[in-house]
Amino acid sequence: MSVMANQYQAINLSQGFPEFEPPAFLKDKINQAISEGKNQYSPSNGLPELLTEIANMVHRQYQVHLADEQKIDGLNNVTITSGATEALWVAIQTLVSPGDEVIIFDPAYDSYEPAVELAGGICRHITLDAPSYAINWAVVEKTINAKTRAIIINSPHNPTGSILSQADLSALQGLVEQYNLYVISDEVYEHMTFDGLRHESVLRYPELFKRAFVVSSFGKTFHCTGWKMGYCIAPDELTAEFRKIHQFVTFCSFTPAQIAIAQMLKAQPVHITELANFYQQKRDVLINALQDSRFTLLPSKGTYFLLLDYSAISPLNDREFCQWLTKEIGVAAIPLSPFYPAEQRPAYQQNNKVIRLCFAKNDDTLLKAAEILCQL
Ligand SMILES: Cc1ncc(COP(=O)(O)O)c(C=O)c1O
Repeated sequence: MSVMANQYQAINLSQGFPEFEPPAFLKDKINQAISEGKNQYSPSNGLPELLTEIANMVHRQYQVHLADEQKIDGLNNVTITSGATEALWVAIQTLVSPGDEVIIFDPAYDSYEPAVELAGGICRHITLDAPSYAINWAVVEKTINAKTRAIIINSPHNPTGSILSQADLSALQGLVEQYNLYVISDEVYEHMTFDGLRHESVLRYPELFKRAFVVSSFGKTFHCTGWKMGYCIAPDELTAEFRKIHQFVTFCSFTPAQIAIAQMLKAQPVHITELANFYQQKRDVLINALQDSRFTLLPSKGTYFLLLDYSAISPLNDREFCQWLTKEIGVAAIPLSPFYPAEQRPAYQQNNKVIRLCFAKNDDTLLKAAEILCQL
C-alpha cells in the first residue's frame, strides 16, 4: 500500500511507521558512536551495557513487585536481534520441530506463519471477532492436542488495537502449565496502551515467563523502524537455545545503534513512560476528526492503529476499497483480510468491511486525511 500511496501521492496512513524523527539525543549518540569508530561486530548476544539497561527497564516497568531472584538478568536472559522479526523467527525455530502445531490468532501479524512453516510446523488458526477481538480460551483449550507446542500472543495487537487483560494472561498460564506448552509473546507495542490501561506483559508473571519468549522492538518505541533493532527475553535455558540459532542468523546487530540505545534508556527513561500519552493524543486527534464521518470506529486500546468499518460507505471488498481509497480519494489504508489465512479470505471479505489506519503521524497529516474521509 505504501508503494501505491507514493505512486498516487495519497496521504499514507497504511504501513505502520512513524512520521516523526527518533529523539535528538538518540540520533546524536548514534552519530557519535559512528564517528568515534564503534563500527565493528558486537558480542553476538548484544552489548552488555544494552542488555543491562533493558533489564533495568523491565524491572522498573513490570517487575517492581517481584523478589530479586524472580527478576530477569540482562546478561543471561536478554538477546539483541535485528528487529523483532528476527527474534520471532529465531524463537520459532528454537521451539518448533517438524509436525509440531502452533496456535495463532487471526487477524495475525504476517511473519508468524511463514516462520512456523519453515520450521516444519503447522499453524492452528483461531479467529478473533470484531469488535472486541478477544480470545475465547475455551476454544483455545479445544484446539490443544498432543502435537501442540506453542501459542503465539500479541498484545497490544496489530492490526486491531486490542489488548490482553490480566484474566487473559492467567487463562493462558493455566493452559500452558496444564498442557506443557510454550508461549511466544510479541510485545512490540508494549509502551502504547491507552486510557490508563496497563500492558499485561508476560514479564509480570514469573510462572508464565518460565515457558516464554518475550519479543520487543526499539523501532516502535524510539520511532526508528528502519534501524531494525529488537530483542528477545527468555529464561536461562531457553535463551541458551535461542542464542545457538541467533548466532548463525545474524550473529550480532548493528553496533552503533546498540551503543546509542543503551545511552538513551539510561539517560532519558521518560521517553518510554510518556509514549502512551503521546500516542493516545494522536489517536484522539484522529477519532475526533472522524466523528462526523460515515465510518464506524472500533476501539483502539493500544498500538498506533485504529480500525474503521466502512459498511455504510461502500459495497467493495476491503482490498478493492483500499485501492479505490488510495487511487481515487487520496488516502492509503490497509485492508484487514491479508491478516487472515488465504483460504478464509473470501468468506471473511463477505462479512467484514474493515480497514486499518496508522496514527503514528503528525497532527496535520491526520487532520488532512480525516477531512477527506469525512466527505465519503
Ligand atoms: C506485531 C508486530 N510484530 C513484529 C513486528 C516487527 O518488528 P521489527 O520491525 O522490529 O522487526 C511488527 C512490525 O510492524 C509488528 O507490528
